[in-house]
Amino acid sequence: MSPQKAYEELIKRVREASLLSSCAGVLGWDERTYMPRGGAKHRADQLSLLAGMTHQMFVDPKIGELLGEAEQSDLVKKPESVEAANIREIRHEYDKQTKLPKELVEEFSRVTTLAQGEWVTARQNSDFKHFLPWLEKVVDLCRQRADAFGYEGEPYNALLDEYEPGATVEEVVDIFTGLRKELVVLLGKIKNAPKKPDASIVEREYDVDLQRVFGESVAAAMGYNFNEGRLDITTHPFCTGLGPGDTRITTRYNPRRLNDALFGIMHEAGHGLYEMGIDKANHFGTPAGESASLGIHESQSRMWENQVGRSKEFWGYFFPQAQRIFKNSLGDVKLDDFYAAVNDVRPSYIRVEADEATYNLHILLRFEIERAMLTGDLKPADVADEWNRRFKEYFGIEVDKDANGCLQDVHWSAGLVGYFPTYTLGNLYSAQFFAKAKEAMPDLMQQFEQGQFANLRNWLKENIHRHGRVYRANKLVVKVTGESLSYMPLMDYMNAKYSEIYGF
Ligand code: CO
Repeated sequence: MSPQKAYEELIKRVREASLLSSCAGVLGWDERTYMPRGGAKHRADQLSLLAGMTHQMFVDPKIGELLGEAEQSDLVKKPESVEAANIREIRHEYDKQTKLPKELVEEFSRVTTLAQGEWVTARQNSDFKHFLPWLEKVVDLCRQRADAFGYEGEPYNALLDEYEPGATVEEVVDIFTGLRKELVVLLGKIKNAPKKPDASIVEREYDVDLQRVFGESVAAAMGYNFNEGRLDITTHPFCTGLGPGDTRITTRYNPRRLNDALFGIMHEAGHGLYEMGIDKANHFGTPAGESASLGIHESQSRMWENQVGRSKEFWGYFFPQAQRIFKNSLGDVKLDDFYAAVNDVRPSYIRVEADEATYNLHILLRFEIERAMLTGDLKPADVADEWNRRFKEYFGIEVDKDANGCLQDVHWSAGLVGYFPTYTLGNLYSAQFFAKAKEAMPDLMQQFEQGQFANLRNWLKENIHRHGRVYRANKLVVKVTGESLSYMPLMDYMNAKYSEIYGF
């Protein structure tokens, strides 16, 4: 077989595995949106079967043979061609997946599907003990996965690589340590600042149906295409790209708070734009048709949510509309006061509702706890106490109940250990990309004031989305911004914004 034929056969097989896996994606979306609670057991069986079948297709020795042939050819000569990138990333994934026994794949899928249901119950009742046996099972399975993959340094490295290919704990710790120092200084300044926003403005009555209408209009203005995407309701908001022409985002509405759904929708629509911007028509099911990493994915959502959605220029355009829609709650409010209110900084329990300045402390806490669980330094049984102790230390407030503490996030129940750092990496990438976009388009913020978001969207599509995984995250950031990842763009952006709002 010619190398070209081998490559084509390889792509065909990998694409079929992805097609099957995208069926699991539809079932997973349904599970978290519309499935009745009673369907949990059956859904776990369905997803477990599909996970096992996908895994079998992907680890077929034939894939290894085809890879070997393609790797011997000219196809890999230009490392940044689609073919070379696909071969490189399929090899990376194949080597990992072939190390996982099928039984472990199925057990992991079955346990995490059930654990998510149990987590919902535990969170509702704020009952850590109810969740504990599931957390123990999940951590044990995650360690088995790490052992099967193999790793340098600590087991965490094996899991982090699944979400941020090529990243290591050592690099992450290095950059997070610098970030943390700067954050503590910033939060100190904010705490002692002369001016304080009146956050009660966004905590008035906001009719849920009107929130939905307003949120959809903002998503549409961003360019989220409702002919190729949906917006539904869930407990824990997410975005999933199911395939060409089909992207799903979800949110949750709070009738007493405008921020949750509005910025949640902008966040998920930012993820959605990335999914829509990838060239799936040509590359679906291959690395070139996937996101570069979760950190890069999160950079897109956080950019729209924060750099765009929490800017004064954005509200210069949207605030008059919001005032008309929410007449009773915003009719008497000034733009500057509203802008300050959506940028209010205060320590709070819930990560997904946290302001930009405290958000990364939430991530550092989770990162440290899950690292310690994996090495065995922290037992799952001690997680609630350890969480509360650290929370007091970082945020200066006591956790009142575990639903507001270690039970708040879905991740551990879903087996997503190693995932949390990608949120902070996303914030860092986001600021670095956005600084570059402003440099490339000096009137970008004025465009927002006119309700124009197409130039930013196109810039992101051109520079980031369309490449899929042809460049890994650490290469992509250098290609786009000329520099490797740093915490300084994020700190520069936050220091400038908050010093104006808080008057320090
Ligand atoms: Co996100």
